[in-house]
Amino acid sequence: MEGAGDGAGAGGGRRLVCVTGGSGFIGSWLVRLLLDQGYTVHATVKNLQDEGETEHLRALQDSAGARLRLFQMNLLDPASSMRLAIEGAHGVFHLASPLALRTRDPEKELLEPAVKGTLSILRAAKDCGVARVVLMSSKSAMVPNPSWPADEAIAEDDCWADVELLEKRQLWYNVSKTLAEKSAWEFAEKEGLQLVVLNPGTTLGPFFTPSVNTSLNILLQLLRGQELELDAVYTGWVDVRDVARSAMVLYENPSAQGRHLCLASMERLVDFTAKLADLYPEFPVHRIKEDKQGWLMRAKDPSKKLIDLGVRFIPFDQTVRETVDCFRNKGLI
Ligand SMILES: NC(=O)c1ccc[n+]([C@@H]2O[C@H](COP(=O)([O-])OP(=O)(O)OC[C@H]3O[C@@H](n4cnc5c(N)ncnc54)[C@H](OP(=O)(O)O)[C@@H]3O)[C@@H](O)[C@H]2O)c1
Repeated sequence: MEGAGDGAGAGGGRRLVCVTGGSGFIGSWLVRLLLDQGYTVHATVKNLQDEGETEHLRALQDSAGARLRLFQMNLLDPASSMRLAIEGAHGVFHLASPLALRTRDPEKELLEPAVKGTLSILRAAKDCGVARVVLMSSKSAMVPNPSWPADEAIAEDDCWADVELLEKRQLWYNVSKTLAEKSAWEFAEKEGLQLVVLNPGTTLGPFFTPSVNTSLNILLQLLRGQELELDAVYTGWVDVRDVARSAMVLYENPSAQGRHLCLASMERLVDFTAKLADLYPEFPVHRIKEDKQGWLMRAKDPSKKLIDLGVRFIPFDQTVRETVDCFRNKGLI
């Protein structure tokens, strides 16, 4: 591990990186990991005045000191204003994006910030001479696609979600992630920017954000006995610490190219609820009886490219147990 000061002096050098959405569930783990590994981090949050977005990052500042700086950034800001956070950074991890399964105005609440925001970040990164950008996309940008054979493993670089189908089903978050990733690839190709993409599935795990994000809320609702319509959304889970580690691995390995599915296992919602009900008989978990995900291939170790890069995934029992412990400690269940 490199020391705190290594390459992080004037201008930051290779060890200065920017994490957009550093306040979020995944972002806060990534910021923590990068600091632990000796990086200097510029983390962006939407509103610096909102303690709910910043208190956990300020706690990290207590030990990291000047190696963690917070910047206010809204995805709808012009690219020029994003430069403050990105200037001097060798790499950018772009995570900021609204994550919601239901919205009143999808164009304004999801599509615009995801697509325009991504392009503005990439523009700022290009203008600032950033060497490598890691984009946090989603497996939602890969599936569902009915024309992909159900019995064929996902080809990570070639499998794209069917936007027309997503729009028809009003899966606006999935649309936002797919269009944002497509726009990012177009920009990178045209402008000659080094881009690599991570595509995680439903992300669970312990959290130190003040609030519960959308993916953690799925688990929380299941534990509370709610029946969820997630047949087009759920394809498998991954531990947040593995997502953060994978993002760092992609940044640190210039040989890593293209898109990277990040899932501990590819599975159906029936599998997930059954495992959860078995593990926690004390909670009223609703076992799904009718499997509506015939289009989805079950696969153990589906994240071939990350595994080849040395990533190993935390097992289900540990991830779920530690998430449930967090819910309990916070009095949520
Ligand atoms: N969680 C999952 O299951 C999952 C799976 C695959 C991919 N992802 C992707 O991973 C990334 C992080 O998600 P997460 O799970 O950490 O969700 P999260 O906790 O909701 O974090 C979202 C982050 O985006 C920021 N953000 C949202 N709208 C913004 C805006 N208009 N301007 C500036 N910042 C904005 C939020 O900032 P504030 O907190 O400051 O408002 C927050 O830091 C997203 O790109 C998401 O699509 C998540």
